[in-house]
Amino acid sequence: MNNGQEVILSVKNLVKDFRVGTSKKKDAYMRAVNDVSFDLCKGEALAIVGESGSGKSTGARVLTRIYDATDGQIEFKGQPIDDYIEENGTLEYARQVQMIFQDPFGSLNPVHTIHHHIARPLQIHNRVGTEHIDQLVYQLLELVGLTPVVETAEKYPHELSGGQRQRVAIARAIAVDPEVILADEPISMLDVSVRLGILNLMADLKDKHGISFMYITHDIATARYFAEKTAVMYVGHMVEWGNSDKVTQTPKHPYTQLLLSAVPEPGRGGRRELGAKKGEIPLWKPDSQGCPFAARCPRAVEKCQGDFPGITQLAEDHFIRCHNPQ
Ligand SMILES: Nc1ncnc2c1ncn2[C@@H]1O[C@H](COP(=O)(O)OP(=O)(O)OP(=O)(O)O)[C@@H](O)[C@H]1O
Ligand SMILES: [Mg+2]
Repeated sequence: MNNGQEVILSVKNLVKDFRVGTSKKKDAYMRAVNDVSFDLCKGEALAIVGESGSGKSTGARVLTRIYDATDGQIEFKGQPIDDYIEENGTLEYARQVQMIFQDPFGSLNPVHTIHHHIARPLQIHNRVGTEHIDQLVYQLLELVGLTPVVETAEKYPHELSGGQRQRVAIARAIAVDPEVILADEPISMLDVSVRLGILNLMADLKDKHGISFMYITHDIATARYFAEKTAVMYVGHMVEWGNSDKVTQTPKHPYTQLLLSAVPEPGRGGRRELGAKKGEIPLWKPDSQGCPFAARCPRAVEKCQGDFPGITQLAEDHFIRCHNPQ
């Protein structure tokens, strides 16, 4: 339980290293995710925000078991993930934790109809008897706003727009009644005009159907719009996290402040210059020292080069890793 809410996914001190060379020495690895911890509660959205290469997708892939964790613990519904899978099977875990990808075209098979895409997981997971499959496919299409349902079901992916295809991907994910959806930049390839519709659909699924979302994005403005909690990542590290309003309205980490300063606001004259130094984004190694943001940080002090900052609690649900918060 977390503030009286049921915790669905609990991640503690997660680490994921990748081999970058052929040698087996320690420095032949890079650390894509370092010491990441969070709880995802029932019917709640957690936004993971950060620029390219910050480890967002790697974290999600570890949660789906595409990758094994290098270190750390993951619990699903209060049970260590390995125990859960041993008891319930890999297929059941895959049913409960669904993923939606950035590119809705690449994730749909061009030779199959929309009906096939949604019926297939229903068959694999034995959700309903064959005689009820059509009815459930139509209900799911209705739920994600793809009407008229019979005509849509007969179409092929290339006959739909990007936004409609992403709705199919969502229908396919929710067809198996999952507990969690890991949405990896689900709107970034869509036209701006249809992005809000997809976010609102996901918000409905969260609020009315109790599905928990991990929402991965570059865009801190949509994180604030959609998710109750936000975690800001930089080079594999969570640097600021907590209640989305607190993180976005009273940001204390220089990197969060930088991301927010880049959000265009009406009356502010478009995007502002980013207030960071032009330092390199480091390639983090298992033995790297200091704060990963130090090279770009306008407020870096001496110890930022040598010590990885510990966690400071700023408010009831607001945390930061920074030697010099403001
Ligand atoms: N399979 C892999 N093998 C080796 N390195 C990898 C692998 N997958 C990711 N990486 C590295 O791990 C780091 C984090 O990558 P990841 O894809 O998780 O970033 P991301 O935050 O999702 O970025 P983006 O916003 O561009 O999708 C990157 O430096 C990347 O090069
Ligand atoms: Mg990614």
